[in-house]
Formats: sequence, C-alpha cells, structure tokens
Amino acid sequence: MEQIDTRRLAPDSTGIASAAEILRNGGLVAFPTETVYGLGADARNEAAVAGIYSAKGRPGFNPLIVHVADLTSATAFVTFNDVARALAEAFWPGPLTLVLPLNPASGISTRVTAGLPTLAVRVPATNLARDLLRAFDGPVAAPSANPSGRVSPTAADHVLDGLSGRIDAVLDGGTCNVGLESTIIGFDPDPVLLRPGGVPAEAIEDAIGQKLNLGPVASLAPSAPGQLASHYAPNAPIRLNATTAHEDETLLGFGSVKGDLSLSDSGDLNEAAANLFGMLRQLDDLGARQIAVAPIPDHGIGRAINDRLTRAAAPRD
Ligand code: TXA
Ligand code: MG
Repeated sequence: MEQIDTRRLAPDSTGIASAAEILRNGGLVAFPTETVYGLGADARNEAAVAGIYSAKGRPGFNPLIVHVADLTSATAFVTFNDVARALAEAFWPGPLTLVLPLNPASGISTRVTAGLPTLAVRVPATNLARDLLRAFDGPVAAPSANPSGRVSPTAADHVLDGLSGRIDAVLDGGTCNVGLESTIIGFDPDPVLLRPGGVPAEAIEDAIGQKLNLGPVASLAPSAPGQLASHYAPNAPIRLNATTAHEDETLLGFGSVKGDLSLSDSGDLNEAAANLFGMLRQLDDLGARQIAVAPIPDHGIGRAINDRLTRAAAPRD
C-alpha cells in the first residue's frame, strides 16, 4: 500500500474543518469518541469505505457502524421500533449502537453493511465527534481505528502507532473517557445483546423493563475451541483470573490484587475500563513476555471488560 503523510489535527475549529474536508473528499480521518477512536469515512462513498477495510486489513464481511449527529439524522437511514427509539432517547449521545432495518433509499454504501439488510448506527458523545458530524453533515462509517485484531485506540498516539501512513489524518482530542467500545443491541424482534460495551446491560434492561437475550457473540460460549477469534490482542499472551504472577509474567492488577500496573487500585470498574486498552499497550511497551490479569467482577461495565479480555486471551492463529 502506498504510504501517505498522516496529519495530526488540533481539536479546534480549524482541525474540525480540515477533518470534514477530508471526509468530503473521500479520505480517511480518525476522530475521538467517548469509547475509542474511530476511523471515519463518508458512509455513502463506496471507494472511501473500501479504504477503511484496506487501511485496517479488515475482512470485507465484517460490517461497520455509522455515526450520526442525532436521532433525527439516524431516522434517514434506519427504521426505529418503539424499544429502539426508547433506548436512543435514553442513551444517545452515548456508547450505545443499535442494529436496525436499513431504509431502502438510505444511500449508504453496501460495503458498510457487508450486504446485510440491517445497519448499525450510533450517536457518539464527545463534542469533537459531534462537531465533526455536524460540520460534515452526513453519515460517517467508523470502525475502531486500529489494525484488525489488535488493541483498540484510546489516544491519538495509539491510532498513529497502528495506522500512520495509511490514513489522511487523526483529529487529536486526547484520551477517551469510557475506554471500550459501545454496547451493540439488535432486534429479533426482541432486543438482543450483540456486544457488551460502554452502557451496562443492566442499565438497558432497566430502561426497557425487560431482559436482554444474548446474541451468539455476547454469550461468549463458543461451542468448539477456537471459535472465539483472537481480538483486542497485545503482543504478549494473556492469562486471566490471576491473583499472583508466575515467573516470567507481568501482572495487571485490579483492586486488592496489586500488579506491576493496576487497572484500578480502588476497584472502580469505570476507571478499569478507561485504563484497559492503554495498559495492554503499556505492557507491550514494557516488554512483558506474558501478561497475567487479575479477576474483574462480571457486572456493569465489568462484563465488557471481561469480554475484551477473553478475546485478547483467545488462542491465536
Ligand atoms: O464504540 C464503538 O462502537 C466504536 C466507535 C468508533 O464508535 N466502533 C467500533 O467499531 O467498535 P468496530 O467496527 O470495531 O465494531 C463494530 C461491530 C462489529 O463487531 C460488527 O460486526 C458489528 O459492529 N456490526 C456492524 N454492523 C452490524 C450489523 N448490521 N449487524 C450486526 N453487527 C454489526
Ligand atoms: Mg474494533
């Protein structure tokens, strides 16, 4: 792939205008959301969307999330049912993605949906992302801005580590405060948890007054070994639920399990989520040969942390 000079744009009106211009010209620009940095392209531009897949090395069958400025904009692209509308009103802008029937005249590139009749949409919460979406005034397809299979980026430097030379720019808005990706809800027609994420499943169940079914991925119960593909993986192999480090291991602590680094000394799950991806990178940078991770309580955002850790620890090809 030809190398291009990747610019770092400042989080001001000039940077936002440059980022919007790149999108209008069919380019690729990474931008900060509250979850992780996304790699954005005009979702209506076939060639621009194809560029996302090649920059990331992402398989073409894995569809993308479209980011819009607000609920009203989303209704141009997908059809909301009552539960979906209630969830959007409760949690947008915020770390929730809804998978809904794609409108026939949406204009969204078929590469975005990988040919599916549904589209994943979300309204991100950072001012920068919303200002960019308003300045561009169109739908932005954006997966996490990392090479496929690697740890998602929660800072502009992480984006540049993985994608420098392959994308036009990164809008540098500092670190992401949620730190792991959005919760994804689909409908069958009952609400299904497709990926645990920034909005705890319990909060969604409270908002809709019903239990969520677990989708095939969110249930984390592969019927055959190896079905759980390695993802979110640092270079070093990972062992989970460790209370002490074996020889050769570097320990990532939580609460009372004190490690070489700690996701949260006080046992705060939100702090741990915000630290997770950055610390996995730090452990690689420290030259850790094997990473052991303390047990993380499996409730609230802890479920999303455990989902990401389980994938990071999954057998590799
Ligand atoms: O927080 C986030 O969601 C971040 C930020 C940038 O918004 N984005 C993100 O994108 O995590 P990505 O591509 O890394 O993950 C998108 C997930 C994939 O697992 C994909 O399979 C699923 O969304 N997805 C997208 N469209 C779908 C659809 N129509 N049906 C089911 N799953 C879908
Ligand atoms: Mg991703």
